[in-house]
Amino acid sequence: MYPIDYIEPVFRPPSEWKSLILQVTNGCSWNQCSFCDMYTSADKKFKPKKLEVIEQEIIAVARSNQPVSRVFLADGDAMMLPFDRLSSILTLIRKYLPQVSRVSSYCLPRNLKNKTVQQLAELKALGLTLVYVGCESGDNEVLRLINKGETFDSSLEALLKLKHAKIKSSVMILNGLGGPQLSKQHALNSAKLMNLAQPEYLSTLVVSFPMGLERFAKPFNGTFKELSQAQLFQEMEYLLSALTLDKTIFRSDHASNYLVLKGVLGKDKTQLLTQVRLALRQPNAINLRQEWQRGL
Ligand SMILES: C[S@@+](CC[C@H](N)C(=O)[O-])C[C@H]1O[C@@H](n2cnc3c(N)ncnc32)[C@H](O)[C@@H]1O
Ligand code: SF4
Repeated sequence: MYPIDYIEPVFRPPSEWKSLILQVTNGCSWNQCSFCDMYTSADKKFKPKKLEVIEQEIIAVARSNQPVSRVFLADGDAMMLPFDRLSSILTLIRKYLPQVSRVSSYCLPRNLKNKTVQQLAELKALGLTLVYVGCESGDNEVLRLINKGETFDSSLEALLKLKHAKIKSSVMILNGLGGPQLSKQHALNSAKLMNLAQPEYLSTLVVSFPMGLERFAKPFNGTFKELSQAQLFQEMEYLLSALTLDKTIFRSDHASNYLVLKGVLGKDKTQLLTQVRLALRQPNAINLRQEWQRGL
């Protein structure tokens, strides 16, 4: 255990399980997406942490002599911090933990609005090599209904800025987010966004409703229903068919998925589509996660 007092709960992407989690902010600066309850408890009110406190924590970790090669900046959107603050944090990590080879963070598209490509490239040079962007959808209607506060264009602009700065992006898209009525356009516009952005990583998760289905469905004016397993496979088929990615590591292996898919797109597109079509047409012929095995 690292000698850090966290304000719980702390979330991190699954692939950061080995990383030192440095809580440089508490909570999420937006905190209004209708599907997300991650930072809604009273203790998680958004607040950046003081730089002096962050420095003390990094020093304590360095003194503990525990091996740290990767750092994840928490909480929900540490990239909302101004350039100067991010630059200072990365400089401190370099100073006290020089062996760290990768720093990453969650990032909302609007976190980059006031940051130039040049500044992002400077952050990259200081060690920030990867950010996780919860695009969730490329469809403007879905984005409005879930209150993401982003659009197709704002998401694309941020992803391209990252690409120009050579910071890798790992994008999350949520299956089931538009219900049956918006399922196809959600999939096709998400594919269009990914095709234009060509992120290094793409993962899909199935949306869950921790604050209740009724509350989530309200803005849809009666048209929202949770997708059945077959409808989720159909949405995945639309998404995969429309993706024209050159070299993106694709993962649909989160515990929320019924069907585990992993591969590199476009190389593995045909093979992945074959699995999805089999799941769609003969669900009993393929190994699917049972309901009790699923989780967020
Ligand atoms: C801890 S959040 C932080 C991400 C960051 N704030 C952003 O929005 O880009 C990480 C991701 O968890 C996923 N997530 C949150 N609530 C979810 C839910 N109810 N069902 C499925 N995925 C969810 C979303 O994809 C979200 O982007
Ligand atoms: S999905 Fe991200 S931006 Fe939306 S409320 Fe959750 S943490 Fe905040």
